[in-house]
Amino acid sequence: MKKIICLLLVTVFFTCKENNIQKSQNSKEEQFINELLSKMTIEEKIGQTNLRGTSSRTKILPEELKEAVRKGEIGAFLNVMNIDYVDELQKIAVEESPNGIPLIFSRDVIHGFKTIFPIPLGMAASWDVEVARTSSEIAAYEASAAGIRWTFAPMLDISRDSRWGRIAESPGEDPYLASVLGKAYVEGFQGEDLSDSTKIAACAKHFIGYGAAIGGRDYNTVNMSEPLLRNVYLPPFVAALNAGSATVMTSFNEINGIPATGNEYLLKEVLREELEFDGFVVSDWNSTIEMIKHGFARNYKHVAELSAVAGMDMEMTSTSYENHLKELIKEGKVSEAQLDDFVLNILRIKYRLGLFKRPYTNRAHTGNFYAESHLKEAKKAAVKSTVLLKNENSILPLKKEAKVAVIGPLADAPHEQLGTWTFDGEKEHTVTLIDVFKESNANYRFEKGLTHSRDKSKKGFASAIKAAKQADVILFIGGEEAILSGEAHSRANINLPGVQEELINELSKLNKPLVLVIMAGRPISVSNILEKTEAILMAWHPGTMGGPALYNIIYGVEEPEGRLPVSWPKTAGQLPYFYNHKNTGRPANDHQFVGIDDIPIHAWQSSLGNDSHYLDAGFTPQFPFGYGLSYSNFKYEKLSVSKDTISFNEDVTLKVTVTNTGDRPSKDIVQLYTQDVVGSITRPVKELKRFEHVYLDAGESKEVTFTISSNDLKFVNHKLINAAEEGDFNVWVGQHALSGLKGSFYLKE
Ligand code: NOJ
Repeated sequence: MKKIICLLLVTVFFTCKENNIQKSQNSKEEQFINELLSKMTIEEKIGQTNLRGTSSRTKILPEELKEAVRKGEIGAFLNVMNIDYVDELQKIAVEESPNGIPLIFSRDVIHGFKTIFPIPLGMAASWDVEVARTSSEIAAYEASAAGIRWTFAPMLDISRDSRWGRIAESPGEDPYLASVLGKAYVEGFQGEDLSDSTKIAACAKHFIGYGAAIGGRDYNTVNMSEPLLRNVYLPPFVAALNAGSATVMTSFNEINGIPATGNEYLLKEVLREELEFDGFVVSDWNSTIEMIKHGFARNYKHVAELSAVAGMDMEMTSTSYENHLKELIKEGKVSEAQLDDFVLNILRIKYRLGLFKRPYTNRAHTGNFYAESHLKEAKKAAVKSTVLLKNENSILPLKKEAKVAVIGPLADAPHEQLGTWTFDGEKEHTVTLIDVFKESNANYRFEKGLTHSRDKSKKGFASAIKAAKQADVILFIGGEEAILSGEAHSRANINLPGVQEELINELSKLNKPLVLVIMAGRPISVSNILEKTEAILMAWHPGTMGGPALYNIIYGVEEPEGRLPVSWPKTAGQLPYFYNHKNTGRPANDHQFVGIDDIPIHAWQSSLGNDSHYLDAGFTPQFPFGYGLSYSNFKYEKLSVSKDTISFNEDVTLKVTVTNTGDRPSKDIVQLYTQDVVGSITRPVKELKRFEHVYLDAGESKEVTFTISSNDLKFVNHKLINAAEEGDFNVWVGQHALSGLKGSFYLKE
């Protein structure tokens, strides 16, 4: 490990300049917090490390809680959702606690506070930095009016497995896309000045590897090589920290045998030394004491020791620090200097939040919950997140005069449409598709068919079929209820739950065009029903304004603008699946592929086509990463690569001409992928390096230009050297990870 660390230090991995204000540069802040620290007793210092959870439904403020604040035993609160309680507790902290240190009030504000935006995986499908930034800006604006100054977002866990329930909360499978979005979220939450009372501190979570849980089962073990960690899982965190994320949350999982919460290497070497993080680290809910169940800590005292030595600053809800840190310091197992560091890290963020100057909620700031402008942005985000996966015979957009049978459990499900992690968004404010139909002059009839997504009763089939018989088009709005994704909601089977497939089967027998709209927290296996549908729209859980967004898309007022931020598997059996995989020594190809039904009966044992594939699912996903149709078509031509050979300090420019060949204005997301053909460790078959949104009128062409350099081609190898390597590179510019015009260049020392 020593050797590794030395190498790490020699190699400058990532530059943490930009907004990540260095302690030394901000001497006023450092002077203030150091002076304060010098007045604090050890008990008070420990108090600062204590993040106390309460229930959002708390009806009274318990006296013992107030007393603990009075004594300086609590540094921050989670889920105090009554603004009067927030200010009452703050008043006690500021006026009655020994050094008058203000509290921070926190909450999971994940994809909106009152106005709910699409789930983060949906937001990622927008591939839109502005939309991401605006969503978190609005979330901060609304949440701060309720006294919240710290959110546990953005979640930046790369996820390659749609079984994992928390893929719904993730930015998807790609480190580049996750990084640009992660930066935007932090900027939106925190703004340029964190002390602005409408801004809230961000928390980059979960550090780290949580999305790589074996089998996609939540909380499961993670095994990960150092290059994989650094090339895929770490970059979004680096981006968030460079954008100034005030806090970081440790993850529940162990990684290579050491729980993240007690992982000194990750928290000290990587986070503090390499990434120069100067905010504070919070554990996840009980993730400290869960180290006992992991088999890493013997008891609560040992938990506190391991967490403290690892450099974990603030403990969420559990109380190992509160109960044992003092004793551990006395015994010399944890140094007081270590505790001082925790406190300084916490005070620094309190200072940056302006809490020492303005500790109370700004009552003049109402948050404008569900303001017209907020709803407009939420609708825009939902439009930009919706992915058109299939559109045979251009059935979409529907003609206004078509008679439509709207069927399915999610057509009018205001709570479900909000998705996971929406404690504060009220379903009364949700606009469903049926709400919009009701207000429209569309010729429609609504028959739910199923009461909810898991419904196994076929009682409603008959009336749904009857309605469908009278219609020209069937619009089936199915998917998953909100509760089927998110934390602890992993699934082994990712098909539509309940008897939705059966109902779709029955409806398809009517031989009418069937448009499937999926609202779900993950890609859904559609292999059983794909052929039964004419069109498929993936709406994710689209949030408060999902209804109007979908209505506009369905009738062609707007385009479905989303592109997949994850590969969409044919079946759960293919998982984990990701586009940026390695080639293997026996990569599969169409030419050699042998399917299960191609094997002769009584065939002699052989290695068939000698490929890395599944007999029954092949080797490609249902829909690739980056994929999404629009209501128009685009032609890509004339790819040019500016130079055959570039040196390490030269740029290479790639140009492509994109034409809208359809008959309506439309948008495409032009994507640039590279492949490092031979590396000191094997390299992925493709990696996303750039993308650009291109809006074109019918018939219009545009030359799109990308510039990259050796900086974009760096990777961390087995010796932990972060560098680009001399050699051949392939490039593709296209519409998704399995398409594109191909070029190449040579990178020369
Ligand atoms: C557990 C979750 O893993 C985390 O993401 C969340 O922020 C905390 N609970 C607090 O609710």
